[in-house]
Amino acid sequence: MEVPEGLLECERCGLSRSRTRVVVGSGPAEPTLLVIGEAPGRTEDEGGLPFIGRSGRLLFTLIEEVMGLSRDRCYVTNVVKCRPPNNRTPTRAEVGACRPWLRWQFEHVRPRAVLTLGLVAGQSVLGFSAPMGAMHGRLVTVAGRPGLGTYHPAAALRNGPSLVEVMRVDLATLREAMGA
Ligand code: URA
Repeated sequence: MEVPEGLLECERCGLSRSRTRVVVGSGPAEPTLLVIGEAPGRTEDEGGLPFIGRSGRLLFTLIEEVMGLSRDRCYVTNVVKCRPPNNRTPTRAEVGACRPWLRWQFEHVRPRAVLTLGLVAGQSVLGFSAPMGAMHGRLVTVAGRPGLGTYHPAAALRNGPSLVEVMRVDLATLREAMGA
């Protein structure tokens, strides 16, 4: 999948000063699933690829188990392409500054369905207006396709098996909406 012109040199916000690498995204241009997280963590900032740390391992284990999809059937990216210092939540300004890159990805990646992880991605991509507890697992239409938000796998790693089970149920809802 190509990289939008200018993204690797982007200085649209202050995260450009602390990042090691811009984490663009990875996967095919015609994936089954477009997966959108919040922002790169330390491992991703160093490795240059999204969701290659612990969160990613949990996430793709669940997607494989529940949806029958391997990582190579997913295009994976984040709302914000550079790591916020100490993994803090990206600010609204940073999310806004990065929006053109995500918009470009929506124009060039043609998935069958869209999955967001956590509140920032749910708000930014699916228009979540309430806490995760009220918004996760609801089917919406995004760019003409089924879309659904679930919890961030990092939250599931912190909170334990009950949140993992909630994620499983959410992923099964999306799988059914895709007719699989
Ligand atoms: N958390 C995210 O939201 N994205 C990543 O790429 C890694 C961890």
